[in-house]
This record gives sequence, C-alpha cells and structure tokens, in this order.
Amino acid sequence: MIEISAPSNIAFIKYWGKHGRQFPMNESLSMTLKNCYTDMEVEYWLSDDIAGVQNFLFENKNQETFKAKINRYLQSIQDVYPLARRLCLNIKSKNTFPHSAGIASSASAMAALGKALGIIEAEITGKKLEITRVSELARLASGSASRSVIPYYASWGKSTSIDQSSQNYAIAFKDFHHNFSEVGDSILIISDAEKPVSSTAGHQLMESHPFREARIEQARKNFKSLIQAMKEGDWRSFGAVLENEALTLHGLMMNSSPSFILLEAKTLDAIRLIREEREVDKELSLYFTIDAGPNLHLIYPLAQEKRVKRLIETKLKSLYKSVIHDQILTE
Ligand code: PMV
Repeated sequence: MIEISAPSNIAFIKYWGKHGRQFPMNESLSMTLKNCYTDMEVEYWLSDDIAGVQNFLFENKNQETFKAKINRYLQSIQDVYPLARRLCLNIKSKNTFPHSAGIASSASAMAALGKALGIIEAEITGKKLEITRVSELARLASGSASRSVIPYYASWGKSTSIDQSSQNYAIAFKDFHHNFSEVGDSILIISDAEKPVSSTAGHQLMESHPFREARIEQARKNFKSLIQAMKEGDWRSFGAVLENEALTLHGLMMNSSPSFILLEAKTLDAIRLIREEREVDKELSLYFTIDAGPNLHLIYPLAQEKRVKRLIETKLKSLYKSVIHDQILTE
C-alpha cells in the first residue's frame, strides 16, 4: 500500500495542441499549487492472470469512468512500463478542491498516479526513483500532469530558451528572481458547469487550426519573454505575457472549427475591472490567467495579498460564486 499526494498546477504559458505520443505542440510553463491537490492510496500486487485497476474509489464512490480511463492508460504504456502487464491496483482518490471548480483535476490525479507507478517500479525493480521518470509517466496520462510533480515552477516541452528541456518530461524552472518566490493564485469560480469541450478534443482542434504555426511561434516567444521577466523580477512584463497567453488560448478555441466559447460575460467583466484597477493603482501587481473554462486565476505577489483580497471581496464580489485562495507550492 502506498499513499501519495500530488498538486494541481496553473499554466502561465499554455500547452494547447499535441502530437504523437502525448508530445506537446509547444513548450509550456506552470506554477505548482499548494492547496489544490489529490490524495491517493494505492494498493498493488502482481498477478499472472489479470492486470489493471480492480477497484477505483473517488471520494469514497465507485468511479467506473475513471477506472476505465486509467486501465486504457495502463494498457497503452505496457511497452515503456512493462510492469503494467502484471500490475493490479486498488485506488482510492480524493481531491482537496471541488471536482467541478474548473481546476485541472486531471493534472493532480494523473501526477499522483505517475508518482505511484514510479514508486512501485522502484520498489519492484530496485531502480532509483527519478523525478523525470515520474513526470514522464504522468505525462503519458495527461500532458499537464507532467508539470505537477515539481514544486515552484515547471516547464515542459523542447525549448531553446532553457537548458535540458524535454518533450518527454517536465523540469524545474529555478532561475527566477525573488519577486517570484512567493506568489498567490486566487481562483474566482465564475461557473462550475461542466466544460463543453474536453481538453483531449481541445488539443485536437489545433491539428488543423489555421493559426497553428503562428501559435507555435507565439508560444516560443512568449515563453522566452516570460522567463526573462521572471528572471528579472519584472511583474509588469510577466503580466503582459500571462494575460496574452490566457486570451490566446480562448481566441484559438473561439476560432477553431467547431468553435467553443468557454468564457462567461462575468469573466470579461472581471477582466475589465482588474485592468481598470491597475490603471488606478499603479503599484498593484495583479494579473489574470484562465484555463480551459470560464474561471479566472488571479496571480499576484503574496506581499500584495491584503489589497488583492480586499478587491476580491468588494468590487469583484458580484462576479463569482466562490473563491479558492491558493499559492505557489514551495517544497
Ligand atoms: O493536460 P491536459 O490534456 O488536460 O491539457 C491541459 C491544457 C490546459 O490546461 C488548457 C493548459 C495547460 O498547459 O495546462
């Protein structure tokens, strides 16, 4: 029996579009979250007759869809993870955040699964447990999960802007200014309705997207500018790239065919308000990003937590249903 937990992450440079065996179309970079995570208990044994997940309890209830998803994944990795041919698992999983909060629950769940498989492999074969191996196993389950096994910031995908980058696994981005060592992420839940497009379908939309090549080039440039801003501790330049990435993701979805509009009117109202507030209060370092949903992640230095929370509780109050105050994971 092993017990693990793994956090969710929020992408600053978005992974959108993939090819081959879950390789990203472009490099991405994310912040790992402290309070939104998955706790998992995994019981394992080897059998010559059966393999795969026997029981999967999500929040104490049987979850056949998740179970089937993990079994398809285990089958698909048999060539790179031969133990999957004989490995039987009973899994109990729970999240610290609501399932429908629009927070990438697949990232934390699949990162936890990747960790479990890495630990099992190390226990059975006696091989040393490597973080790159864990990240690779997580990636094969869900691309963004590859980044969730690393604290602070993680980058995934081949990039000319940093050393040792890989499309197989994520690596830590450590070279940031201390202005970026304590960062808040307050998530405004604007709607908790089911997403109209799965991320798998979303990635597929990029295959024949008319802006595909332009997006690859833009992500390359944005990645470079973002890490430069983070190295210099420059919140303003960081924020400009952060918001551009979020709006690009949604722009790409809106002009895909078929087209998807995931933003709500209240998302746009909140964006306008945040931008106005920055005009009024020039000292405010508050920028937004958005995942594949309508909810806003407000990113800011924790030193400004009080004024950000005040803004959330006053001017932004009517625009969201609930709020989750999270922050960067530092260990
Ligand atoms: O890991 P997936 O396949 O769920 O894709 C996640 C894609 C985004 O969350 C929209 C962006 C990202 O980089 O996390």
